[in-house]
Amino acid sequence: MAHDPVIRFERVGKRYGDGDAVVEGVTLSIERSHFVVVLGPSGCGKTTLLKMVNRLVEPTSGSIFINGVDSKAIKVTQLRRSMGYVIQQIGLFPHMTVAKNVSTVPELLRWEPARTSARVRELLELVRLPYDEFGLRHPAALSGGQQQRIGLARALAADPDILLMDEPFGALDAIERVRLQAELSDLHQRLHKTVVFVTHDVEEALHLADRIVVMRAGRIEQYGRPIDILERPANAFVAELVSAQDAVRRLGVIKIGDVLPLDGASSTAHARTAAPIKAPSDAAPLTAQTDLRTALSLMLAAGVRELPVLSDDGAALGAFTLEQLLQAARTPVSQVGVSDF
Ligand SMILES: Nc1ncnc2c1ncn2[C@@H]1O[C@H](COP(=O)(O)OP(=O)(O)OP(=O)(O)O)[C@@H](O)[C@H]1O
Ligand SMILES: [Mg+2]
Repeated sequence: MAHDPVIRFERVGKRYGDGDAVVEGVTLSIERSHFVVVLGPSGCGKTTLLKMVNRLVEPTSGSIFINGVDSKAIKVTQLRRSMGYVIQQIGLFPHMTVAKNVSTVPELLRWEPARTSARVRELLELVRLPYDEFGLRHPAALSGGQQQRIGLARALAADPDILLMDEPFGALDAIERVRLQAELSDLHQRLHKTVVFVTHDVEEALHLADRIVVMRAGRIEQYGRPIDILERPANAFVAELVSAQDAVRRLGVIKIGDVLPLDGASSTAHARTAAPIKAPSDAAPLTAQTDLRTALSLMLAAGVRELPVLSDDGAALGAFTLEQLLQAARTPVSQVGVSDF
């Protein structure tokens, strides 16, 4: 039998009281381990859509299936335990230590104290706030970004399959925001959670998403990979929202690995392996995961027209050149073969 999507919306609608529908006719499948970003202007129904997943808001029409089971048939407590929830206004308990905040769910689940404290240490390590330094502080003694990390650790405590995040970085300054985005991306690659992440920030969406849901006035305008949204916007609204014609933005969602065959046999056409390229010693190396926008910026910074591409374990895979970059920027994605994970 075909596998069920982790989350499936079937013609879901919501009206509050006797007001107009704020979400209407949403049908959407979210696959396991995907990082799905819900993007749209203020008031379009993003938060409402997210809250219907953990039943903080009940749909007024349609159904939501979790691993194939109608969520109405799942006990609310059990449903919420299977999904972490992170919001902008974090909601840490101010009178409790960081460690206590993270251990609330395991304690609710009556885990053995030893298991709970091991888990708390592991999670604080994961969000880079080691227990020995931060565990016994109170939330007021943390920066906004640190509090947000604790919110994330708390949401992950019982190891839920699904992570729901509603503008979690909305209140952070630009530098901290970019740092947390990178860490969340990294965590997602390691933990393989299914993430549904709400934002109205286009750069954030393009940077984080495997799939983007573009919403307007309660409806889905488009659902696709970032590159699809940029390259084939479904309509003028989507095109304008993401500035689809912006070539630099487009570079940001194409990875080196998408345009270079980097593994052994197939590497003849592009990745030249003949003369090893000497990277300027201070230039960060490229990897298959580096996006072309970053690659361009590294070339410009180093004043070179090509940079070596390294594997994760540091082996030289070949070179990536400015010409290849320009070529990729001009080629429709269908031809550069962006991997369909
Ligand atoms: N509890 C509620 N009662 C009545 N109307 C509500 C309620 N919550 C949200 N709304 C309305 O539903 C619509 C969608 O709200 P929602 O919070 O889902 O939007 P959003 O896309 O998350 O917006 P933002 O980007 O500003 O957070 C808005 O018009 C809002 O005023
Ligand atoms: Mg909202």
